[in-house]
Amino acid sequence: MPIVNRIAEYSDTLTTWRRHLHSNPELGYEEVETAAFVAARLREMGVDEVHEGIGRTGVVGVVRGGSGSRRIGLRADMDALPIQEATGVAHASTRPGKMHACGHDGHTTMLLGAARYLAETRNFDGTVCLVFQPAEEGRAGARAMLEDGLLERFPVEEIYGLHNWPSLPVGEFAMCTGPAMAASDEFRITIKGRGCHAAMPNLGLDPVFVGAQIVLGLQGIVSRETDPVDNAVLSVTRFHAGQAFNVVPETAELVGTVRTFKTETRDRIERRLGEVAQGIARSFGLDADIAYRRGYPPTVNHAREAEMGADAAALVVGEERVDRTPRPVMGAEDFAFMLEAVPGSYIWMGTATGPDSPPLHSAHYDFNDEALPLGVSYWAKLVESRLPRAG
Ligand code: NI
Repeated sequence: MPIVNRIAEYSDTLTTWRRHLHSNPELGYEEVETAAFVAARLREMGVDEVHEGIGRTGVVGVVRGGSGSRRIGLRADMDALPIQEATGVAHASTRPGKMHACGHDGHTTMLLGAARYLAETRNFDGTVCLVFQPAEEGRAGARAMLEDGLLERFPVEEIYGLHNWPSLPVGEFAMCTGPAMAASDEFRITIKGRGCHAAMPNLGLDPVFVGAQIVLGLQGIVSRETDPVDNAVLSVTRFHAGQAFNVVPETAELVGTVRTFKTETRDRIERRLGEVAQGIARSFGLDADIAYRRGYPPTVNHAREAEMGADAAALVVGEERVDRTPRPVMGAEDFAFMLEAVPGSYIWMGTATGPDSPPLHSAHYDFNDEALPLGVSYWAKLVESRLPRAG
């Protein structure tokens, strides 16, 4: 596999960095030591500028090559998850209840590896902004950096992201065009009834009975109202009501998630969820309070940048190892906010160690260090092909 030679030479350093980060995980917006580690490495490498504290704990490094005015961004996430590690590896987390179970230790390391390569070789014409973001796991660190002026201070014309993919063999890449990951929203429906003796339900208004109808009714929004060729998921994940076997409770609460790929589908499901829940509740004389909270938008790869990214991956592993038409997934990713603001794309990089590789967010997951030089080579080829030197 044509890993860039110069990068292969320091793959041991990459592994050391990755394992150091793995041993010392920090949760979203607490990446103080991680950010300091990133900034220190960037300075050692002779990156032109290092900016800290963007979007709270985010870091941006700037590397220039030639005299070109074009600018691109490369992004990695730095945060860990609140999981107790169960891998048993020598470099396991030293922090109880915190773990790099999504491979963001690997992502951070690969972008540092790219910084080193780019600072040493400068074989490109333009400016590369290396964006190390906090809090990808549910706390919208990408949005925090954007709100803190990321694009005003570093006005990139394109931005690229990468995520390790443990169900894909190491040495393969996959890049969607268009939607790659779903929007992720949460809802909470509080059904307000009237409690009474369970032997005399006619004297009250039963929120458990109505809640059960709502659980069923909501599924019709997906199965009967959504184009079957479009994709949406609505899951009721919690149903809390009552305490006793002989009391009809006052209230019931339903909580769940909605996943969609298209804005119009998302808007419609949000509206219909309220109408269906309220309509069913009212038809039995009860009332429902609906709270709908929008989380991450869909992660949508721009066609041209998806092609450019897949082309760069093919330069590293060969065209036959790049899947240009993978199926999108219903998980969510906050790089979506950056792709809403700037054209770009998000690639999946295979890291499978075998057929039973633990999945992302598993207590048994560990980033596969074999993939580190491949990810760095991807970044190197992407920069050199997007910002080519004249002649
Ligand atoms: Ni992740």
